[in-house]
Amino acid sequence: MTEPGKVDMEKIVSLCRRRGFIFPSSEIYGGLSSCWDYGPLGVELKRNIKQAWWRAVVQERDDMVGMDASILMHPQTWAASGHLEGFADLLVECKNCHLRWRNDDLESNNCPSCGGELTEPRLFNLMFKTFMGPVEEEASVVYLRPETAQGMFVNFQNVVNTTRKRLPFGIAQIGKAFRNEITTGNFIFRSREFEQMEIEFFVKPETDKEWFDYWLEERLNWYVKLGIKKESLRLRQHAKGELAHYARECYDIDYLFPMGWSELEGIANRGDFDLVQHASFSGKSLDYFDNDTKEHFLPYIIEPSAGVDRSVLAFLCDAYDEEPDKDEIRVLLHLHPTLAPIKVAVLPLSRREKLVEVARQIDADLRQCWMVSYDDAQSIGRRYRRQDEIGTPFCVTVDFQSLEDNQVTIRERDSMNQIRVPIAELRRTLEAKLQGESLFPPPPGGQVWKEESPA
Ligand code: GAP
Repeated sequence: MTEPGKVDMEKIVSLCRRRGFIFPSSEIYGGLSSCWDYGPLGVELKRNIKQAWWRAVVQERDDMVGMDASILMHPQTWAASGHLEGFADLLVECKNCHLRWRNDDLESNNCPSCGGELTEPRLFNLMFKTFMGPVEEEASVVYLRPETAQGMFVNFQNVVNTTRKRLPFGIAQIGKAFRNEITTGNFIFRSREFEQMEIEFFVKPETDKEWFDYWLEERLNWYVKLGIKKESLRLRQHAKGELAHYARECYDIDYLFPMGWSELEGIANRGDFDLVQHASFSGKSLDYFDNDTKEHFLPYIIEPSAGVDRSVLAFLCDAYDEEPDKDEIRVLLHLHPTLAPIKVAVLPLSRREKLVEVARQIDADLRQCWMVSYDDAQSIGRRYRRQDEIGTPFCVTVDFQSLEDNQVTIRERDSMNQIRVPIAELRRTLEAKLQGESLFPPPPGGQVWKEESPA
């Protein structure tokens, strides 16, 4: 198993490109800086991550509801949130080539690209601007949201009124966010268009500490339950000077990425900052009425805010492994079955009509439940390796004996163990295996053995 932090980013980028997880955006035009396109496998992995998050934080809980706000919001939102004023980096511009640089990244007083003279530092807002309606004038400026959070704050009263939720309760949202980042890089770690999975959890002010601690633990455990090694994760508290303008307290869940410990998710106690600001800028009361104490007050907000793309990268890095395999290397992704893009591959041993007929039938049947891949090209050993490399937990092999005994072989990715099961038991067996049931003992009528080295 590859040690935490020892995975080579180049290998991850190359695997993603080669197998269709992630491509540079608009590649045929030379790519667009810091924008990425998720290919057929990447989109499945990302969808599975989002689904697992939604299941854990919305579906399985009685104290959470979901929503999906629009990306474009009333411009006053960003005045109230502090983004218009405070969401900025100090930049200098080269008077010669006009490239902009973060002041704190510079090692000399000249442009790192052409050596030209630099301007005095100026604040540069990270929000993308666009225009609403047909006229491009200041009055019609709107912004692409730099976080999904504000959509939940401005809908707080709508949610309380329509769901009758009482404190403590949360709103969850998954969606795109945009930041005109100056320093990008490390593949999908920092891009200009990315996705967030955010929770805004509203609590009584005096209970903020206990809920903050609760969410720290809950969120850390979520990554571990989905297979990330504990030693690849750590909690890092923000120092006072580092806190965002809205935060009373904040911890990052850091992951040991190939470039070192970096933020995967931030968990902040935002106090009543956001509701105070939006109440003041909109002139609408955002008070909560407590039926028990008959008091009106503004709840505090605990915000676990995770990046979808950073999660994709962390799950990929953590799952990546190389094992000696005769003269070659077996590359595999130990992805948790819940996250694996393809759950089962159906592999007929040959392209003979009778075998294909059975294999196609199995393929069609399993597709009713999961993402399935049908592969009949090259030797069975090569096909197993292809599936290992994309993290497919199980392969089902249909051979000539299957025509006689109506049984097929299930081969497991990590152990390479194989069992033989009746076709009639296949769906039920895979269902149990995908939910984590041990591959042994086999189902009624089954046998177990170890995979032979590939041909
Ligand atoms: N609402 C709070 C908020 O947006 P943040 O720490 O700025 O907090 C939350 O962002 C998460 O969003 C980060 O932990 C990270 O996972 C992800 N994120 C932020 N900027 C990103 C970027 N440029 N590219 C990819 N992910 C990013």
